Order: sequence, then structure tokens, then C-alpha cells
Amino acid sequence: MSQSHGKVVIVGSGLIGRCWAVLFARAGHNVTMYDIDEKQLSDALVAIRQQVTEMHQCGSLGEGKTVDGVCQNVRSSSDLATCLQGALHVQECVPEIVDLKKKVFSELDKHVDEGVVMASSSSCIVPSSFTESLRHRSQCIVAHPVNPPQYIPLVEIVPAPWTAPEIVKRTRDLMQSIGQAPVTLNKEVNGFLLNRLQYALIMEGWRLVQDGVCTPEDVDTAVSQGLGLRYSFMGPFEVMHLNAEGIKDYCDRYGANITRVCETQCSAREMPGTSTCTAVHEAMCRQTPVEDLPARRQWRDTRLAALAAHKQELEDKEKKA
Ligand SMILES: NC(=O)c1ccc[n+]([C@@H]2O[C@H](COP(=O)([O-])OP(=O)(O)OC[C@H]3O[C@@H](n4cnc5c(N)ncnc54)[C@H](O)[C@@H]3O)[C@@H](O)[C@H]2O)c1
Repeated sequence: MSQSHGKVVIVGSGLIGRCWAVLFARAGHNVTMYDIDEKQLSDALVAIRQQVTEMHQCGSLGEGKTVDGVCQNVRSSSDLATCLQGALHVQECVPEIVDLKKKVFSELDKHVDEGVVMASSSSCIVPSSFTESLRHRSQCIVAHPVNPPQYIPLVEIVPAPWTAPEIVKRTRDLMQSIGQAPVTLNKEVNGFLLNRLQYALIMEGWRLVQDGVCTPEDVDTAVSQGLGLRYSFMGPFEVMHLNAEGIKDYCDRYGANITRVCETQCSAREMPGTSTCTAVHEAMCRQTPVEDLPARRQWRDTRLAALAAHKQELEDKEKKA
């Protein structure tokens, strides 16, 4: 069975399971979704058609792909053992509860063949905490997407200490083949890569507000009208490289000051129940009251879709040039 069109099983048909189904089906895989809740499964098929239609409308379904063609690749099943037969890759998408991940992986372990990748979508639970005692533990890994993955392609691949190198490579290759952008961690770390970077930024914004340096709105403006513009197409290391005559020159010029500033950024502050929490909440609610959050999320996803289309267009042009 070819890697690019093998069978993929999605376990858990909620928010992220549906997105994975769309990504694998768009790439031509046969996708079977499994869930313990029949209603979730039937709702998922409706939501997937809607998602695929939206992607078609904004031009991100891919050349020659039709809504029906992609949707035909997705089926649902309420029998785990049967749907795992002949699977190439299993993508677990059940809620982020370690005991539930343990239960689901031990169930998968009973039915999978040798060599099948068992990937978890976990956002922050390291794979060793729910795979240690499994017979097929060398086939287990985390492949963490970012929401919404159809417009944010990063996938964090996190092996357990016992994950076979071949499984790491196959997971990475599969993610690349479906149009995602994988990064591979060499070892488990709390928060993986993306959230460690994100939390560093959140915590610095929090400290600046708490210390009275600036308002919550100013922190957001510094990112949305400053840093974020570059970061949508290059990372901080490449920014450094370009902002001097290479990294070495950047470190010579600015390194000592960066170290001095960072020495003042070491204290992690408490978050829940603090006056800073109230101040940031009130500031954000002035912009978007809690009852308007669904509409704002929709707006965010539309902007992300447009940004993804723009980036794709530029990358295609650069390839042709
Ligand atoms: N929501 C996000 O933004 C996001 C982003 C990245 C990763 N993740 C990760 O993806 C995973 C799923 O999150 P979600 O937001 O899609 O959750 P969700 O609550 O939307 O969906 C979970 C689904 O799992 C099903 N389920 C529960 N127990 C099950 C079982 N024993 N067997 C099969 N199905 C079962 C539920 O019926 C439900 O349909 C979590 O680990 C989460 O951390 C979520």
C-alpha cells in the first residue's frame, strides 16, 4: 500500500479529528473516523463537508480537487477493531485527559498490526506518559497540530524515548506529503516547541502589564502590527540573520544586551485570580465581549485562510521564477 494513499484511521471525531480527516482526505487517503459517540460521528460528516466546501471556495482545496471527491474519501465507523484493519496510520483525537489517552492507546494496541503508526494529537501530554506498557510502544508518537490545521500547517512530532526512528521518519514524511509542515523534537519536553515559544511571549506581556509598563492592548499591537508581520513568513533566527551581517555579527552587536534584558525576564508570575488577569480580561472584553467570541473566531479563521492563500500564491510564484 503506498504511503501517499494508505488508509488512515481517526479516533475521536471532535474538532481536531474532523480537521485531520479533511487534511488526509484532501491528500487522497481513505479515512475512517471512529468515535464512541454516534451523534459526534454523524455531525462530523456534515461538518467535514462544510469545511471542505469553505476550502474549495477560498481556493485551498488544491488543483483539480472537488468537494465530492474529497468527501468520498471519508467514512465513519463505530467498530474500532474492523476500522483498524489495513490501516497505515492512526491519529488519536480524544480529549486531553491522560487516563483517557492510556485507555484508548491500550485498546489500539490490541488491534493494530506491526508497523502501523499510532499518533496522538495531544497538545501537551508527552507520549511516554500513556504508552510505556504497550506491546507496540515503539510505534507510538505525538503529532500535534495547530488549530485550524487547514490554515496553520505546523505539526509538532514528539517521540517517546522508545519510539522507533523509522516511525518518526514515517510520521514526518506523511505529514509533509499531506501539505503540513512538521518539526521533530529530539526528546520530550513540557509544552513541546510552539507552546514554549508562545508561553514565553505571553508571560513577558503579562509581566509588562503587571509592572505598569504598558496596556494589554499595547502588547497585542506590538505583536499584530510588529513582530507578527515578520513571523508569518520567517522565524526569529532568520530575522536575526537578516538584521545584521549574519547571526555571528548579530550576536556580537546585540547579544550582550539581549542577555541583560532576559536576565530581568526570569520570574514566572501567577495568572488565575490576579488583578492582572482582571485587567487583561476587561481590556480584551472592551474589544470583543465574551458573547461575540464565536463571530470573532470566525473572523480570525477567515483572515487565516486569506493569509494561507496569500502565502501559497507567493511560494508558487517563487518556485516558478
Ligand atoms: N481543539 C484544539 O484547538 C486542539 C488543537 C491541537 C490539538 N488538540 C488535541 O486534540 C485532541 C482532541 O481535542 P478536540 O478539541 O478535538 O476534542 P473534542 O472534545 O472536540 O473531541 C473529542 C472527541 O473524542 C471522542 N471520544 C471520547 N472518548 C473516546 C474514546 N474512548 N474513543 C473514541 N472517541 C472518543 C468524543 O466523543 C469527541 O467526539 C486533544 O488531545 C487536544 O489536546 C486540540
